[in-house]
Amino acid sequence: MNETIQKNLGYKKYVIDSKLQYFKPHASKIEKTFAEEISSSLNRDSKFIAPKFFYDKKGSDLFEKICTLPEYYPTRTEIDILKNLHAELPSFIDKSFRLVELGSGASVKTRLILDIFTQMQQTTEYFPIDISEILTESSELLLQDYDNLRITGIIDTYEGGLEFLKNYDEKKNLILFLGSSFGNFSPSDGKVFLEKINSTMKSGDLFLIGLDLVKDSQILESAYNDTQGVTAEFNLNVLSRINDELDADFNLNNFSHYSIYNKDNQRIEMYLKSLVKQSVIISKSNLSLNLEKNELIHTEHSHKYTLEQIRTLLESTGFKLNHVWLDDNTHFSLTLVSKN
Ligand code: AVI
Repeated sequence: MNETIQKNLGYKKYVIDSKLQYFKPHASKIEKTFAEEISSSLNRDSKFIAPKFFYDKKGSDLFEKICTLPEYYPTRTEIDILKNLHAELPSFIDKSFRLVELGSGASVKTRLILDIFTQMQQTTEYFPIDISEILTESSELLLQDYDNLRITGIIDTYEGGLEFLKNYDEKKNLILFLGSSFGNFSPSDGKVFLEKINSTMKSGDLFLIGLDLVKDSQILESAYNDTQGVTAEFNLNVLSRINDELDADFNLNNFSHYSIYNKDNQRIEMYLKSLVKQSVIISKSNLSLNLEKNELIHTEHSHKYTLEQIRTLLESTGFKLNHVWLDDNTHFSLTLVSKN
């Protein structure tokens, strides 16, 4: 066992070659968490399934498809902003920075930042952190395109990945958290999470966060109710995942996708609606679930922010704002901060 493994107990290290390695928590840890969380989140009056469980392989693929939909403006808008970072990001970083990404998924947008890093550096280190094994596929694709890239993937939750990073070494990090994934946290969990990121960072580290902005309700609602039904498939897929991994018998035909913009709380709310009165067994969670006709299972909140709220949020969690980039329509924001 080498030093790295000793410092990161609970993870197994997979060395693929000199350019690629992964760390993954022991399988039993993942399965136990999923079964337990589902057991408690569905065994209550207002039922919910945490959105992090969307992202098995199929869910991650469906999410990538959502990102290309005409109605889903966040991805292409964020890409447009990232394309303009070329001129300005280099003034905030130097050759010693490593790139870390929370929720890296297919690493499509990452390429725009990697272009900047790999041009500046002889060797670029990239640490993607993602709960899904899609990370392994996307890492291999990146290595085909960037000769001077070295990847250390961490297949874990954001919190697990951040804890891993904190204990890793002294190198400076630029941590990316793109796609307004932060909007999927509740406001209180979001604050705790930003504090966690802040406590992981060393002075000199940077954090770049992409956040979706408040806008016309119609634009928002059609982004989460696309005409091709991909978002519906993505939402329903979490039930297939529970069937497969927790030995359950959800009949997907008995549920429908439902999402709506809640103006007061500035968030899209996404649910699975039970179309009939029904019972479902989830064996590995030891749960017999009873659902009324029209009962909702909450699956996701996607919060939208004003620029003022972003500033207040980041400053109240220990950050100093370095720069904010926006698109021409002010639909999306990228904010660069350091530790205060
Ligand atoms: C990952 N996350 C930021 C997406 C969002 O927009 O909240 C997930 C998503 N849900 C439905 N469509 C996209």
